[in-house]
Amino acid sequence: MNPTARKSVLAIMSSQLKQYTADHRYLLEVVTQQTGLAEPVAVELDEFYVPLLKAARKGPLLPIDGVLVRDWDPDNRRIAPGFQLGIRLYDLEGIRFVRVRCGHGNQSNIWGLDFIAVDRKDYRRLYKIALRCRRDSEPPSNAPVLPAEQLDLLWKNTIGYLEAPNLNRIKAYGGRARRGVLLTGAPGNGKTMACRWLWEACRQRRWDYRLVTPDNYRQARAHDTIEELFSVDRRGIVFFDDMDLALRDRETVHETEDQAVFLSALDGINVHEGVVFVFTTNCSLDLIDRAFKRPGRIDLVLNFKPPDERLRRQLIERWHEDILGHINVDLAVASTEGFSFAEIEELKNLLVMRCMDSGDWDWDWALKQFDVNRSELGSRPRRHVGFVNRRNNGDEIPF
Ligand SMILES: Nc1ncnc2c1ncn2[C@@H]1O[C@H](COP(=O)(O)OP(=O)(O)OP(=O)(O)O)[C@@H](O)[C@H]1O
Ligand SMILES: [Mg+2]
Repeated sequence: MNPTARKSVLAIMSSQLKQYTADHRYLLEVVTQQTGLAEPVAVELDEFYVPLLKAARKGPLLPIDGVLVRDWDPDNRRIAPGFQLGIRLYDLEGIRFVRVRCGHGNQSNIWGLDFIAVDRKDYRRLYKIALRCRRDSEPPSNAPVLPAEQLDLLWKNTIGYLEAPNLNRIKAYGGRARRGVLLTGAPGNGKTMACRWLWEACRQRRWDYRLVTPDNYRQARAHDTIEELFSVDRRGIVFFDDMDLALRDRETVHETEDQAVFLSALDGINVHEGVVFVFTTNCSLDLIDRAFKRPGRIDLVLNFKPPDERLRRQLIERWHEDILGHINVDLAVASTEGFSFAEIEELKNLLVMRCMDSGDWDWDWALKQFDVNRSELGSRPRRHVGFVNRRNNGDEIPF
């Protein structure tokens, strides 16, 4: 392109850009005049759009420069703005925001002319609400497959305990507004999955929840902020996942300062509304410190066992219908005796990987491959669980 042609192309582009930005500024001014939002900030909501608009209450439609073009499209009435050109007001938890739509001409990018706007003073709050709405729209996580009585006990002692009518009655009768539940059992049988399921239930109820990992604990210990780990602002559940060494018998691991700190933080918290502590560990019950097991600290112990035939069937029957249509479920149930839930799920992964490769659903192959993979792992490395410190030579020592 010769320099003169290039110059004139640049001049056209720059005047188009100026027009575009002027249009955008004009629309924001219209928003201020029409709605009273003092300092509107334009936003493209992207994946927040649907959850936020679903939660908001639709307000009136307003014209732009005397023009309003309605849209009768019956699809997605709930979230569609109902117009092609104009402004619609929305209200969400007391925050007013607008959808502006005024795309015209052949702009390849209309986002400057089709946007959401909110007053600067409400911007951060709207963002926080949008985060919550998006989180709430995620599908709830699956409950673990457990014997019905165990699932029921787990629910009643956690979410059920904190439900307002129950908690009020417990308090009225002088009961404790706090409860401790310990989940024990061999790896891969649903302890962490049960925690995920419960914190999902907390989230849906807008209760507080907090997950404490051994790493979090270690850091809090270093900064002397252990008490904060145990406290919740509102009613809620604190999950302590994989807390093996902190709970172990002081006789066998020799009394450590760490356990004393842990127990005193547990006893010392101020319960405002109601709190449930859920601890998980691989440690067998007889190895757990008696001081920790006393009522008031731990009120219920649930042992997560590997699945029996009925539970294995229940787990496998939750698999995708394409898999179920191509395997013999009775055989799958029979051939997984002694497997943990996680191991059975791994068989499913192998089945799917094989199918992607060969197009066949080959259960025998998956079983064999599982054995090969396991044997190649050799003696499985010990997981680092609980509160451990590393010496320079790599040995683990309790705190
Ligand atoms: N009871 C169960 N029902 C359904 N799926 C399960 C169950 N238990 C385990 N799984 C599957 O195995 C995976 C691992 O289980 P999870 O992390 O809950 O084990 P865990 O008991 O916490 O083990 P660890 O003691 O090693 O921490 C889960 O994400 C899930 O896919
Ligand atoms: Mg776990």
